Amino acid sequence: MNGKHTRGIAATLVLGSALILGLNGGTRAESMRASAPQWTADGQLILPDDYHRWVFLGSPLTPNALNGGEAGFPEYHNVYVHPAAFDAYRRTGQWPEGTILLKELQRTLDGRASDGSRVEASGRGYFPGQRNGIDIAVKDSKRFADTNGWGFFNFGHHAPPYARSAAAAPKASCAGCHEQNATADMVFSRFYAPILEAR
Ligand code: HEC
Repeated sequence: MNGKHTRGIAATLVLGSALILGLNGGTRAESMRASAPQWTADGQLILPDDYHRWVFLGSPLTPNALNGGEAGFPEYHNVYVHPAAFDAYRRTGQWPEGTILLKELQRTLDGRASDGSRVEASGRGYFPGQRNGIDIAVKDSKRFADTNGWGFFNFGHHAPPYARSAAAAPKASCAGCHEQNATADMVFSRFYAPILEAR
């Protein structure tokens, strides 16, 4: 093979890779756009309807039995993120603009024991019951500049149906605690690392 020919092939390969990378970047940007948060005319966040298909990150549990019978959120806290934001985080370690993190509360099945636990075929413990509320965090640095680039929304703490849309909660209700205690960029990512950073 002569030198000219080889250079020709090399150039084609470089061009091909650039095209593939370019296309990939485009597809990713498009899928972030396709899953972008939806807003009402007066700036309320519309509850996404397909979040059970998103990536499930984890499920912290703060049962009443371990909180003097009065846990603020005695349910499982099931946390989801849409797949495009999940991919972006795995690539860059940053949450992209438009990220939606959704936490759905899920009650434990009624307990037979005083600590709220029950016995099932797998053993004694807590088992998932009725869904019971939704909180959402959206990254939008312009819209939520006052709360570190994230807006926080509560769609009700009760069984479905949930509110269809919600206004951003005041800083004191949500963002303040996230700002002080979260792992990085307002998110408690340390609890999701086993899935978020799995290789
Ligand atoms: C007193 C502290 C505190 C307050 C106030 C608070 N959160 Fe959180 N939030 C947490 C902690 C801790 C987690 C980590 C998972 C868990 O324990 O539920 C969390 C997790 C979340 C998550 C999942 C993503 C993440 O960052 O881990 C969302 C979404 C969320 N909170 C939304 C809200 C909304 C909306 C409000 C206000 C209505 C709110 N939070 C108020 C402490 C708080």
